Amino acid sequence: MRIYASICVLMFALSALANAEEGEIVIADFEESTYGQWAATGQAFGTGPAQGRLREQMEVTGYLGRGLVNSFFDGDRSTGTLTSPEFKIERKYISFFIGGGRYPGQTCMNLLVGRKIARTATGPNDRPGGTERLDWHVWDVSALVGQMASIEIVDRHTGGWGHITVDHIVQTNERNATDKSKEIVVSEKYLNLPVKNGAAKRRMRMLVEGKVVREFEIELADAEPDFWTFLDLTAFADKKAMIEVDNLPRLSHGLDRVGQSDEIRGTENLYKEKYRPQFHFTSRRGWNNDSNGLVFYEGEWHLYYQHNPYGVQWGNMHWGHAISEDLVHWRELPIALYPQRFGDWCFSGSAVVDVNNTAGFKTGGEDAIVAAYTSTGRGECIAYSNDRGRTFAELEGNPAVRHEGRDPKVIWYGPGRHWVMALYHEIEGKRTVAFYTSPDLKKWEYASLIDGFYECPEIFELAVDGDVAKRKWVLHAADGDYMIGTFDGKTFTPESGKHKYSHGNCFYASQTFNNVPASDGRRIQIAWGRVEMPGMPFNQMMLFPVELGLRTTDEGVRMFARPAREIERLYEGGRQWKDLSLPMGRNPVPGIEGELFHIRAAFRSGEAKRVGFVVRGVEVAYDVNERRLRCLDKAASLSPVEGVVRLELLVDRTSIEVFGNDGRVYMPMGVIPPDDDKSLQILAEAGPLHVDTLEVHVLRSAWQR
Ligand code: FRU
Repeated sequence: MRIYASICVLMFALSALANAEEGEIVIADFEESTYGQWAATGQAFGTGPAQGRLREQMEVTGYLGRGLVNSFFDGDRSTGTLTSPEFKIERKYISFFIGGGRYPGQTCMNLLVGRKIARTATGPNDRPGGTERLDWHVWDVSALVGQMASIEIVDRHTGGWGHITVDHIVQTNERNATDKSKEIVVSEKYLNLPVKNGAAKRRMRMLVEGKVVREFEIELADAEPDFWTFLDLTAFADKKAMIEVDNLPRLSHGLDRVGQSDEIRGTENLYKEKYRPQFHFTSRRGWNNDSNGLVFYEGEWHLYYQHNPYGVQWGNMHWGHAISEDLVHWRELPIALYPQRFGDWCFSGSAVVDVNNTAGFKTGGEDAIVAAYTSTGRGECIAYSNDRGRTFAELEGNPAVRHEGRDPKVIWYGPGRHWVMALYHEIEGKRTVAFYTSPDLKKWEYASLIDGFYECPEIFELAVDGDVAKRKWVLHAADGDYMIGTFDGKTFTPESGKHKYSHGNCFYASQTFNNVPASDGRRIQIAWGRVEMPGMPFNQMMLFPVELGLRTTDEGVRMFARPAREIERLYEGGRQWKDLSLPMGRNPVPGIEGELFHIRAAFRSGEAKRVGFVVRGVEVAYDVNERRLRCLDKAASLSPVEGVVRLELLVDRTSIEVFGNDGRVYMPMGVIPPDDDKSLQILAEAGPLHVDTLEVHVLRSAWQR
């Protein structure tokens, strides 16, 4: 017992000694409400450390803990200095975080030794990702060890970026203890990763059996995260894995907090978050853009999508994956395509069911689902799945097509019994769509090219006015603007100019489903909804699936879009009216309030000059004289048909999709109405209004069955 006790005492003494010699010495961490013994002059530094951003300043990130030095008190115009008490240099390095202006001698931090500036540093004058960020910085002071010194933080600049931010000044003997790693034995489903938006991006990787299996960039939180995201560990069950992070500040707790669990951390509130769309697909975590690989197989609608699993901004492109049996209720599955290595990202592409096994990929009872996608490092690649689209293997001969461009859309061309790949293709600086053909999805041959389309091409055939004997081909790219024409399996021949498709503010990079059974027969499209989700652990959304059709109008044949009828599955309550005569003004729809609606109305042209809806304070109005439909800053021409204008609206928490005259005008709008306004009103300006029919359906959330 006594021996044990004395060993303990001895060990304690030894470690204290080691600490005194090796451990770090914190010069200042600015976590108190005052500067303590530091002396401030002027106004710029206020009376004590700031807690983040100051009034009229952009968001400030990258500091540790809660407090930091911030000379933005009274804005850029103020000046001053902040000087530390004297201390002895006892370690080889001084490390700190610094941000703000890049004016040497004017916005800087100096190390003073014997009244002379021995070292100096400035901020970066930069706003990565719209924030002011402090970055880690190190001074080598090994030549000065033993000398007395002080630190002076200076703000003598009064114009733009006339301020400086500093935090966590530490003496240390380790210059770069910053490539950190830790080993885990995989025992649970998820590796939880703490994310701080705007923090410095760190390169993180996971190695299994000495091989890098995952590698990405992440704004790893050094302290409290904004949210947790995750890395799916199920493919590595029971294996030893090494997690590494490059260039991590020594004081960061980022890697310490990375740990496993069977539930994704911080998802108690999943799908109930303030701005979570309730009947539009969004990813549980991270960023989404384009819809990819839309394909129907064995009762499942597959939605793959451009996905950053590790942050809420674009980056680290993977193919996320979700499935639905009804286009309304989605279930997110594990990521379907992972980058093969860092920098070789999985950009957009498509998927088909190889019903005739033309590629010979089929190994079991299921038809192969074959994906074509852009690998940014290799070219257009083919991957195939024999497990109903869950996991994919790469074609051995990848890339299948090499060219300047991206975004392969593959379809089966029945009459020629061959595959067609439409590609965004750049040639001599021109933006074009190229067509390639293939008998087997593996060997591709260039066929033709058409000018004037940018990113994410789409080509499909539609019946005109529902007459299957009268079909036309539609070609469009990411913005949705389309041409109508003919296609012989190799060449698209336009018969129209370009027509505008989306009149909204958030439509981009749509796709339509391949392999929809003939018994269904619809051409269903899902587009990326470019909508920022403030403060959420996810960002962007998919627009509601729409059914496309070609119809003859006064101006010629045009593409129409209507919400997929499956929206009805969410009807929770609703009412219908006929022949309503409404007085001039805003007319509340009696007894109806809420956040989620499907609304349909037929307004008869009469005395009212502007008619429509005010949904939670947002106007969707038809201007009778101008014959224009408007919402926020968007407008589109729309003519009454036999004296009637029809409006259809899908209203969710972050969007209002507007359809005019049965989808002649499609206007998807990203908009976040005020939290406290759940009202619904009918607008009748400058006269009374006659409404032929009105249907208002309140919707339930698709996330609670
Ligand atoms: C369109 C796009 C595609 C590309 C993808 C990358 O939004 O730029 O051209 O493949 O996004 O995420």
